[in-house]
Amino acid sequence: MARVRDLGNTCVVGLQWGDEGKGKIVDLLVQQFGVVVRFAGGANAGHTVVAGNEKFALHQLPSGILRPGVLNVIGGGAVVDPGALLGEMQSLGARGVTIGENLRISDRAHLVFPWHRREDVAAERVAQVADKLGTTSRGIGPCYADKVARRWAIRVCDLYRPTALRARVAQVAAYKSALFRAVFERPEPFDSGAIADEYLAFAEQLRPFVCDTTALLSRVLAEGRRVLFEGAQGCLLDVDHGTYPFVTSSNAVGFGVGAGVPASAVNSLIGVLKAYTTRVGSGPFPTELLDATGDTIRERGGEYGTTTGRPRRCGWFDAVAASHAVRVSGPTELALLHLDTLSGLSEVKACVAYRSGVDLLTDFPADAQTLSEVRAVYETLPGWSEDVSDCRRLHELPANARGYLDFISGRLGVPVRIVGVGPDRDQIIMVDA
Ligand code: IMP
Repeated sequence: MARVRDLGNTCVVGLQWGDEGKGKIVDLLVQQFGVVVRFAGGANAGHTVVAGNEKFALHQLPSGILRPGVLNVIGGGAVVDPGALLGEMQSLGARGVTIGENLRISDRAHLVFPWHRREDVAAERVAQVADKLGTTSRGIGPCYADKVARRWAIRVCDLYRPTALRARVAQVAAYKSALFRAVFERPEPFDSGAIADEYLAFAEQLRPFVCDTTALLSRVLAEGRRVLFEGAQGCLLDVDHGTYPFVTSSNAVGFGVGAGVPASAVNSLIGVLKAYTTRVGSGPFPTELLDATGDTIRERGGEYGTTTGRPRRCGWFDAVAASHAVRVSGPTELALLHLDTLSGLSEVKACVAYRSGVDLLTDFPADAQTLSEVRAVYETLPGWSEDVSDCRRLHELPANARGYLDFISGRLGVPVRIVGVGPDRDQIIMVDA
């Protein structure tokens, strides 16, 4: 297993449209950290971690859950779907993963309810084709919308006041039933009694894990334990800075306030990228490859969604989009994964500008329509035919693969310090090791 320099408290974020391999990086680094914190998103996320011969798909649980002795925290900025979370815990438990003192869930996190999942699906169903967001159907958008609107939201801490919870669920269920009747033609109302019973049962199962995670993390930091903050999704899916409206509903850039600790607690930020680009769901994707090269990348890279199983859209590396992600996130170093997937291509391309009518754009446009109409301007680099999956030192890589890494770090102005050459835990090159 590769050793990692001491990075201090570190945040890992995706610099593309999610699925960059953050789970793998967290899993690699976690040996140096006592604590892993998830601070945004919910069951929409899919973090794949390969351990030994086994592949684990994590959704709401932090990626440190597979490592004995690591404390895993779900922060207040995340949204928790308690039924799905308990299901995830049970299925890991059945595979021998111990979950107990090693998991804590913020009492401030918002809860996903059945009406959120249904609204997510119904809104997608009625949307015109061009307006469909291609969500994961996990109720994430409606749950965050209720959180920000404040009138219909229910948080983890509310689960522990049963009488008030029943009243609150009845009030929200009545509102949501009326909304569905009026807008989505769902005739039968939500059964508030059954939903309250179900959530009160979830509450008991989750009770040992729920606490004030800000107080906990503050103590942990004061004790000098190293904390790893695990981002979900990627910068280009950030609700403020991504390809709006084709984004998720939480912040995915830089360090997340949802962790409940100050940004000053973080010493390093690792931006994770693939050697190419992928996207699931709808939205503009200037370097998308709808040809055989795109298919090759999808098959070699195993590019199918962890959460939904959808084939991922694949394309060349987009340095314009990645530079935008670097500007908003400020990574101190980069992890570039899936370099092995590009082996065997005679040439590799990277987008360095967009052509928009007569204009040449080098900044990432705000408007999704503009972005869907631009033509990518590429720089073409020589490919490499060698299999790189057994390389463990930078100098073992073919010269053209090293040239590609230099090109990316030069373009983004941030050093590549970790290179992924395969799916396994040890298929990693630590650049300065
Ligand atoms: P939502 O987060 O389910 O609302 O989906 C909004 C958009 O974000 C869709 O395009 C999803 O495919 C995408 N998305 C959400 N979570 C992830 C993720 O973990 N990886 C990649 N894409 C994601």
